[in-house]
Amino acid sequence: MTGPEPIAIARPDLGEEEWLALREPILSGWLTQGPKVRAFEQAFARRHQVPHALATTSCTTGLHLILSAMGIGPGDEVIVPAFTWVATANAVVHTGATPVFADVDPTTYTLDPRDLARHLTPRTRAIIPVHLFGLCADMDAIARVAPGIPLVEDAACAAGADYHGRCAGALGYAAAFSFHPRKSITTGEGGMVTTGEADLATRMSAMRDHGASVSDAQRHQGPQPHILPEFNLLGFNYRMTDLQGAVGLVQLGKLDRFIAERRRMAAFYTRELQDLPWLRPPTVPPGLGHAWQAYVCCVDPALAPAPRNAIMAQLQQAGVATRPGTHAVHLLGYYRQRYGLRPEDCPGARDCDRQTMAIPLHNRMGEADLARVVTAITELR
Ligand SMILES: Cc1ncc(COP(=O)(O)O)c(C=O)c1O
Repeated sequence: MTGPEPIAIARPDLGEEEWLALREPILSGWLTQGPKVRAFEQAFARRHQVPHALATTSCTTGLHLILSAMGIGPGDEVIVPAFTWVATANAVVHTGATPVFADVDPTTYTLDPRDLARHLTPRTRAIIPVHLFGLCADMDAIARVAPGIPLVEDAACAAGADYHGRCAGALGYAAAFSFHPRKSITTGEGGMVTTGEADLATRMSAMRDHGASVSDAQRHQGPQPHILPEFNLLGFNYRMTDLQGAVGLVQLGKLDRFIAERRRMAAFYTRELQDLPWLRPPTVPPGLGHAWQAYVCCVDPALAPAPRNAIMAQLQQAGVATRPGTHAVHLLGYYRQRYGLRPEDCPGARDCDRQTMAIPLHNRMGEADLARVVTAITELR
């Protein structure tokens, strides 16, 4: 006899509509960045109430594109939270600038504005607040501590999140989103940068396309076949394909339903788990609309029935997948060695690294799955 299917930590939700959307670019033969990407960008900009949206190959390349188009490079410093996916800091390193790690607030897991001031120097060129797991960072408090410093939102997890009535992606100087399959909406791999700055958008548009002054799509429609683009900027190839654009457009149309379902699931978990003395459900400050890319709890080592990793192993035995929330980047080998960082440099991030646990949350879960997760956790001894 076999038991019930294990419950995955995350599963993308795609179907017939995405499948059918691929038909047009495949049959037309226009596969690279073209009309589908443009339509996806326009719809994304509208949904997030931001003037400019440009699709990229990932959030990582999106962050790199933003920082490069801002002219950030060697000699500059960019402040990043220490508890985030490694890509936030990697994007800074790839520009030649130095990532400076600030601590996070262990209750929200986002950049702690109280720890920010000590990291500001005359070389600080930008701050990257991360809207981790879909909860917006405390953007107003961060801006108060660092007036005049551009805020680049790492909105990898935050499509559809809101902050006091404003959308993630429209809260700073620029933002980058991810469409990796662990995010609420996906294009397989993929990203989107957003900004209200027209000049920055123009530079990013050229730089994602080798620095070309006009795109292939524009050139093919133009009346003068002999004209090649100007290349006045050093660029990359960070273009999204039209196949991904077609899928992204369909996924974006489902975003609000996905988030509504995720909010209901998160509310159920919080209601059922909040009385456990050893597990702290995620905190949502007033005025913030969590997009619930992940539901990340904190295991109290003093009260838990077992160490976090043993709890995760027991849940796996019970058919419930879990993951650490994310990592403390200042503890990762490359960063520790290159910048001489110690765990106590960012104690909040260090503790989150050791104590957080994401439990399954995705749009293919049913009520019975949610109940099974809760039972497995509450029955732990
Ligand atoms: C906070 C954060 N930043 C950046 C990224 C990188 O996104 P991508 O995989 O699209 O490059 C991720 C992906 O997991 C993330 O969670």
